[in-house]
Amino acid sequence: MNSKEGKMEKKTKLWGGRFKKELDIDAARMSYSFDFDKRLYSYDIKTNMAYARALAQLGILSEPELKALNDFFDDLLEKFESNDPSIYGEDEDIHSCIERLVTKALGDVGKKLHTGKSRNDQVVTDMRLFLKDEIREIIKLIDSTLRAIYDFARQYEELIFPGFTHMQTAQPVLLAHHMLAYFEMFKRDRLRFMDNLERTDVCPLGSGALAGNNYEIDRSLLAKELGFSKMSRNSMDAVSDRDFILEFCSASSICMTHFSRICEELVLWSSPLIGFIQIGDEFTTGSSIMPQKKNSDIAELIRGKSGRVLGNFTALQHVIKGLPLTYNRDLQEDKEILFDTVDTLKSSIKCFYKMLATVTVRAFPVNLSLKKGYILATDFADYLVKKGVPFREAHEITGRVVLFAVENSRQLEELTLKDLKGFSGRIENDVFKVFNVKQSVDDKDVYGGTASRRVKYQLNRIKEDFRWEM
Ligand code: ARG
Repeated sequence: MNSKEGKMEKKTKLWGGRFKKELDIDAARMSYSFDFDKRLYSYDIKTNMAYARALAQLGILSEPELKALNDFFDDLLEKFESNDPSIYGEDEDIHSCIERLVTKALGDVGKKLHTGKSRNDQVVTDMRLFLKDEIREIIKLIDSTLRAIYDFARQYEELIFPGFTHMQTAQPVLLAHHMLAYFEMFKRDRLRFMDNLERTDVCPLGSGALAGNNYEIDRSLLAKELGFSKMSRNSMDAVSDRDFILEFCSASSICMTHFSRICEELVLWSSPLIGFIQIGDEFTTGSSIMPQKKNSDIAELIRGKSGRVLGNFTALQHVIKGLPLTYNRDLQEDKEILFDTVDTLKSSIKCFYKMLATVTVRAFPVNLSLKKGYILATDFADYLVKKGVPFREAHEITGRVVLFAVENSRQLEELTLKDLKGFSGRIENDVFKVFNVKQSVDDKDVYGGTASRRVKYQLNRIKEDFRWEM
């Protein structure tokens, strides 16, 4: 047995009376979660303190005992924060670690602290407290993203850009309009997280192991002390419910899907093949062999990391779906999934909005692209409609004109009036006015369309909604 195995065998447990043999070394390795759940220390301390106050209210702890606990936990919080080596033992999880430390320091007072409290209601209380803080931070990060997208759209407010469907040149749009499409997506993400916060903000403490608490603990006091606005209404649901994490993972995968899509566009646009944008040096890397390369690694990594977040959501749903009521140890698997999702999402958002601020658009290739791909063919068909041709027929005629132009390696505006008249007698000299991307954009003058005044309206609305300091 190596020294690590020896250490593992000596791990302290919160149970023992019922057992004759030690836990198998590999079983211990599988079941001990301290390495990752120690991250919950501040929430576990908070939960313990709130519980101690509720016990004191019942007379189970005396005022001096409560004071001793208070001082102890203040001190312990500092020790965790400075990573003091004295806190580490051989603990199964953060709850047993803290219970060991408090019992070692305060004896019976520490032992009393567990009266009526189970790790089942404790762990889910910690997780809810943790997630509430994280969601609030994520909402702030999404706000920074919204701001960065808004700034970018403002900066290129007038720039006309090729719009695509099927990755084929479709119709001209404003670049601002394109970017504001992502603004809408991230705004919906923000709402999803706000909604998730509502359902995370429920206090399960006082639910005991599953059936409730034997000591008439004041659950509304616990909720208030811990800053929850609501209490769980069913103790069995309270200890086994992880919907709030599942919802968070779902909202995170949708959010990461949006980041992945916009990053995919940045990767494409920055490729020399397209060349519409340049991403700042701070967010690109070079190649160890090809000196000319400027790779969009950060955008690619964000796109790649969306896979992890999506996987985490699926993993958790699979963990939960087969579980009978109430607490089952499977639920311990929620932690690494949640922590990884939070960390990946936060680092992706942070990198994204900082990266976007370094992106510059190269007008020349953008303008050149507008001259290719027959981007005004739909406007040409609309011209025929205005001349009295039914749309389906106009579409058919335009298709033939485009084919003719393709076969003669010409753009529509390079065809002569004579060429064009060959397709329809209704075509007149005014047809050449159609070949104007600015006109095409401004013709989309409906609410939600890309016409300049409509996009300006949306930008102004955003400015008002968010009341940013401009
Ligand atoms: N580490 C456990 C978890 O994360 C804490 C709850 C343990 N409860 C139990 N009955 N074994 O789920």
